Amino acid sequence: MNKPFKIGIAGLGTVGAGVVKILTKHADVISSRAGRDIEIIAVSARNKDVDRGVDLSGFYWVDDARDLANYDGLDAVIELIGGDSGIAAELVSSALDNSRHVVTANKALVAHHGYALAKKAEDNGVSLAYEAAVAGGIPIIKSMREGFAANEINAVYGILNGTCNYILTVMRESGRGFDEVLKDAQDLGYAEADPAFDIEGVDAAHKLCILTSIAFGVKPDFDALQNDGKIQGITKVNASDIAYATEFGYRIKLLGIARSIDGKIMQMVEPCLVPVSSPMGGVEDVYNAVYVDGDFVETSLLTGKGAGEGPTASSVVADIIDLARGFDIPTFGIEADKLKDASWVNMGETSSRYYLRFSVIDKAGVIADISSILKGQNISIESLSQRGHDEGRSVPIVIISHESKHAEMIKAVSLIKELESCTDNPCLMRIEEL
Ligand code: HSE
Repeated sequence: MNKPFKIGIAGLGTVGAGVVKILTKHADVISSRAGRDIEIIAVSARNKDVDRGVDLSGFYWVDDARDLANYDGLDAVIELIGGDSGIAAELVSSALDNSRHVVTANKALVAHHGYALAKKAEDNGVSLAYEAAVAGGIPIIKSMREGFAANEINAVYGILNGTCNYILTVMRESGRGFDEVLKDAQDLGYAEADPAFDIEGVDAAHKLCILTSIAFGVKPDFDALQNDGKIQGITKVNASDIAYATEFGYRIKLLGIARSIDGKIMQMVEPCLVPVSSPMGGVEDVYNAVYVDGDFVETSLLTGKGAGEGPTASSVVADIIDLARGFDIPTFGIEADKLKDASWVNMGETSSRYYLRFSVIDKAGVIADISSILKGQNISIESLSQRGHDEGRSVPIVIISHESKHAEMIKAVSLIKELESCTDNPCLMRIEEL
């Protein structure tokens, strides 16, 4: 038997404790699959005196996680602290500098600093592995870097945030309010430490940015997503939108979309309507899904639990096994120096069918005003319905458009908002047929 593969774990929250559990429970089978034992040598977390439901007595305790970067004898550092700066970033960077492999679940770090870290890993002859950073238990990084390696990728669509998918599902099924359901998701260990990252779409955007990099051979560029306003969460989706979407045969899903259009890349995170009967329409609860469209494989859907202790720890341990076996692949599938700067599509030029909901005063001529605005922007209506009748009071109007140009739809929404009869902010969502 080869000598053991020695690791140090930084961060013993939900995922860290899960990794210790798996490595303990499945030690024998993991050892056979890795071709050597995997030994946890040292661990570190903020607070030593917490019962994590795992026995840590056989491991050295390190007070400052950063000391694991040069801890004697470690082959790999497992970073499960999180965050794109601070201790996690310092630890990963210096572990790579010290020629230690790194396994991380830290999507923010990879999305923000992936290119620099990939170069550092290559320069030091080690790997940066991050399967758990995207879509929890789904082996999507392995699939993208290896399984689909023969293809030119046309598009990647992802339900990438378990908390949002859980909230949207439970709100639809139970009619319960947003805050109450979010609290459940936090109690179940799905949500981020700061749940704003989940519900505002930032967590999904971190993950999308990583998938975009592998799919299209470009440097991960989170700022391009954030600065161009291409990230929207689910906070503006209300119970009535969920109910109307259901009535029209759709589900609302927070989608991350990366698509190649004429040599440029369209990248965005938004709540979208997808047909109930489509592959994504049936992905509910805390499940994530990634739908990949490649030129030879055609389409492929991978789905599984995207958050929580077991699924995320499972992916961390899979990376550890790969490294122990000596598996080596460039961080984003191709050498860092070959990653290109992406050229982004102008979102205004993209087209889609749209769902549009707003409230107007119920009086003669309002629909005519709205129709006239839509006509002025070349937007053709597939269906328009006023929900209810309440003369002189505010009523919701729901419109499904034919394929329309994004810039023209945005202009139409701003003109509708200016109408005296319009009483609240319109809700606009793309319809993705998939
Ligand atoms: N908070 C994330 C989610 C899990 O809800 O999907 C880890 O990425």
